Amino acid sequence: MEKRLKNGQHWTDTQGNPIHAHGGCILKIEDRFYWYGEDRRKNYYVSCYSSRDLMNWKFENHILTTESKILKYYDSAQLKNEDGKKINIERPKIIYNEITKKYVMWAHYENGYDYKQAAVAIASCDSPTGDFCYHGCFNPLQNMSRDCTLFIDKNNTPFFVSTAQNNANLNVYSISDDYMSVNKLEKVLFKGEYREAPAFFETRDKLFLLTSKCTGWSPNQGGYAHADNMISRWSEIYDFGDETTYHTQPAFVLTLNTNQGKQYVYIGDRWGGNEWNGVDRNDFVYDNSSYYFSLINIDESNVINLEKCNEFTFDINTSSFRVWNSEK
Ligand code: GAL
Repeated sequence: MEKRLKNGQHWTDTQGNPIHAHGGCILKIEDRFYWYGEDRRKNYYVSCYSSRDLMNWKFENHILTTESKILKYYDSAQLKNEDGKKINIERPKIIYNEITKKYVMWAHYENGYDYKQAAVAIASCDSPTGDFCYHGCFNPLQNMSRDCTLFIDKNNTPFFVSTAQNNANLNVYSISDDYMSVNKLEKVLFKGEYREAPAFFETRDKLFLLTSKCTGWSPNQGGYAHADNMISRWSEIYDFGDETTYHTQPAFVLTLNTNQGKQYVYIGDRWGGNEWNGVDRNDFVYDNSSYYFSLINIDESNVINLEKCNEFTFDINTSSFRVWNSEK
């Protein structure tokens, strides 16, 4: 019987250890996928796994930890707070910079006491699985910045997008050529609508944004919008998935180039437990969190449907993802 991976279960890596890659992203480099995400165990912040088939994940490295090397780019560059405790690094996103030849990570930073600093942390590395070097954190153009993502559009223009004004707005920034800082606030999306968990992907004719409402760890109705490009006019927000987005929150969209065209794979978090109390970061929320991968279908009128997906498989020969809801 062919192997299928079941959504919402606790996935393990090829050594049988739990996979901790929450709020993350996936890069494809040659014939491998690299999955990065939050890992709140021990002194870890971000971990990396690799796979050829999105099902068998090999642990690669704890790429950012409390002990990572610090190379200051911003004044505030500590990986522990004043009490020697862990800070928060959330929703890490990594893109490759062709000029500096570095993999650059941007993530949501909090000081480990509360969620008030609302800043961006930056780290980088020469290799996709190496020990990343921490460069510090900052508030983009003095703005608050919580849930965030990086996206390079089809014109090769990179953007950083993050929630601002206490999550009320989604700010779109252009970023510097070395991917180390923001340039300019290009656009404010969905002002006053309190959207979180932004994830972008692009089809031949539209740029899509998936986002959740703002209810902490509790899942809610997912929404999507589309535009011709990042700074053009955006549609209103339409629903996708069910009222809890199948108990998930968007983390990332992986675009697959299959031999029959593109597929868009939803990478979602199914956070465990109840609302987080903001104090004990290693509580059961994290240990019970799992993942949800599924296909995003788009019709001719740019209406999105997230397929309900019990299990999935991936065919290495055709590079395609398949949803299974039937019994074996
Ligand atoms: C969510 C957010 C997560 C995390 C959590 C903390 O809304 O998307 O990344 O920050 O709140 O309560």
